[in-house]
Formats: sequence, structure tokens, C-alpha cells
Amino acid sequence: MSDAPSISSLIGNADAFPVLKHWHFFNHAGVAPIPRTGADAMRKFAAEAERGAYLGTAWYRDLEKLRVSAARLVNAHRDEIAFVKNTSEGMSIVANGIDWQFGDRVVTTSVEYPANIYPWMEQQRNRGIKLVMVDEELDEHGRRHVPVDKILDAAKDPKTKLVSLSHVEYASGQRHDLTTIGAFCRSRGILFCVDAIQSLGILPLDVKTMNVDYFSADGHKWLLGPEGAGVFYCRRELIERTRPAMVGWMNVVDAQNYGNYNYTLRPDAGRFECGSYNVAGLLGLKASLEMLQSLGTEAVGARLKVLGNRLITGLFGKGYDIVSPRDAEQWSGIVSFKSRTQPHEPIVSKLRREHKIEIALREGRLRASPHFYNTEAEIDRLIEVLPGH
Ligand SMILES: Cc1ncc(COP(=O)(O)O)c(C=O)c1O
Repeated sequence: MSDAPSISSLIGNADAFPVLKHWHFFNHAGVAPIPRTGADAMRKFAAEAERGAYLGTAWYRDLEKLRVSAARLVNAHRDEIAFVKNTSEGMSIVANGIDWQFGDRVVTTSVEYPANIYPWMEQQRNRGIKLVMVDEELDEHGRRHVPVDKILDAAKDPKTKLVSLSHVEYASGQRHDLTTIGAFCRSRGILFCVDAIQSLGILPLDVKTMNVDYFSADGHKWLLGPEGAGVFYCRRELIERTRPAMVGWMNVVDAQNYGNYNYTLRPDAGRFECGSYNVAGLLGLKASLEMLQSLGTEAVGARLKVLGNRLITGLFGKGYDIVSPRDAEQWSGIVSFKSRTQPHEPIVSKLRREHKIEIALREGRLRASPHFYNTEAEIDRLIEVLPGH
């Protein structure tokens, strides 16, 4: 029998999640607190590093285990996963690695986090590609979203070379229909790139059934890792067609043979790794990811839905407007909402100062993003202390 903890044993468990002793923390879509298991892994690393790096340690073996776990999480092969220092690095690898022709189009939305905008703008400036941004609109319930049909329409132009989207939009919380968009792209030979930081670990991401060609995600949000340690995926068939943007000693097949300058890039995603790893951060990420995997993405997601729905019911009761779509396909861990009468900034600072409750302000909206270990009582407390209308 497995001795892995169950979800119920971890909910409200301040030993496993020390942040619970200090804060009602609802900003996992920002930078997440690190659970005990991740912090312990980094403490172990620090103790070992004090005694002598790589002398009797299992660091590299453990990092390869992380590569396997990350691959398993998304139905990829370990050879398709590279370690990156953040989401932006992975997006930049794609932007710089493609053989663009003048006039090639990249389709995205106008509500992306800039990690999925500036890399394309750089190519627009240097290589003459055209960046097409599809606008958000209100759905029939008044929720903000970018309709899938509008994205597909924009991508129909034969000059479209790539579609790049956040799996979940950081401000509205909309989850895009990757399955439909990925199938469309694959059928037309369009590349499909995903910023997965707002979904990885809590919502299913299957690179095969969703026809994803590239994705990038740092670990510091829903994966409960530290900042500066993330994963990048490149579909096997594209690895050799994607030139590494940054090259150092590690991108090559015989990297440890230092003095023998054999510049043959690795045939796997390791060709995108240019030098020494953030070992401490990756070991922290590994521990947190393994905990989430032992619980299962489906169970974690189901728990998040329960907490999100409870929050929304309470917010309605207090007269707030909900911005995030919540239907079966589009919901996510993010609940964005608006007061009809009160300025938002003082609400956020009062919650922090007087109630030790952390939410965020994004694009003029309030944003709450609890994780599975938060309790119903914490959600109720947030509702209780939010100003009414
Ligand atoms: C959608 C999205 N992408 C990327 C990031 C962060 O990028 P990076 O990992 O490069 O710091 C954020 C952080 O808020 C985000 O919401």
C-alpha cells in the first residue's frame, strides 16, 4: 500500500503547508508558498552543498527523475523535456528557434501575460513577422473570454505559422480549449505553443491529444515550486528543426568531454539547455511536483473547483460581479471579480494588513486563486471580511 498522503490529510495541514500558520493565501496564480516537502528538498540540497558539491550526492540522478515525472504529467517523453529558468525562457526558445520568413503570422490574444507577447514582438521587429492579437469579449453571462472561433478565424490565414496561447489567461482565468485549437493547427501545419504556467499540475495538459508542439512553464505557481526552475516541452519531431537560442557547453552530445570541441547538438530537448542547472530550485520543484502527482491532477482539480464554486457563491451573495468564465471547459484555478462600488486597491491592502488574507489585483480586477490545501473556512473568512455592496 502507498504511504503517500491523501488530499484530505493535507487540507488545512499547517505542517505540510506552513503558510497556513501565517496567511490565508489566495494568490497561487502569483507566486506560491513552498510546501514543507519542497522546502525540505532544498534544505537537504543546501546541507549537502555545504559539504561538497557532487561528492556523494544524487543531484543529477534526481533531476533526471524530475524530467521523467514532468514528462509523465503531460504525456510526453523525457527526451522532449528541457529544464528552463522560467516560462519566458521557453517562449523565447521557440520565438528565436523557428526559421521565420518575412510576413509569417503569429496568432495570440490581446490579454496574454507579456511572457507570451514580447518574444514575438522581438521577432516582429527583427524578422518581419506579423503578430495578430485576438481580443477578449463578454460572453452571455457577462464573463470575459476570447471565443475559440475567433482564434481559429484569425489563424485561418495561410501565412499563419504559429498559434501561441496561455492555457489559462492570468487575468480573466479563462482556460482555452487546447484540444480544438491544437487539432485545427495540426491539420493545417501550424505550430502550436502554450504558456502552461497557470495550469500545470492542476488541470490536464496532454501534449499528444491536444497536439501541443511546445510548452513552457515555471514551477512557482500551481506546481508549488520555487521561482527560477521550470520545464519546457518540444515535440520530438520539432527538436532538430528548432535552433537553440542560447548555446553553451551543455547543448551538445559529448558535453562532459570539455576539451574536445565537438559541436554536435543533442538530438533530444537537452539541446535547449545551455549550461549548469538551478539544482536547488529544480530539487524543490521535484518534491512539490511529486506530492501533486501522488494526489493526481484530476483530484486536485476537482478540489479547486469546489473551492472556486464556494467562493463564487459567496461573492454573488455580497454583490460582486464575477469576471472568470466558469463553464465546464473554461474554468480554472483563478477567480477574478469586481466590486460595483468600491475601489479595488484599498480592498487588497486592507485584507492583507488587517486580516492576513492575500489576494491579487490584476488588470483592474480582484483575483483570488486558492490551492487545494486551503480550507472552506478560509474561503468563508474571505467572504465575511470583504466589504459588501
Ligand atoms: C500566463 C503567465 N505566464 C508567465 C508568467 C511568468 O513568467 P516567468 O515564469 O517567465 O517569470 C506568469 C506570471 O504571472 C503568467 O501568469
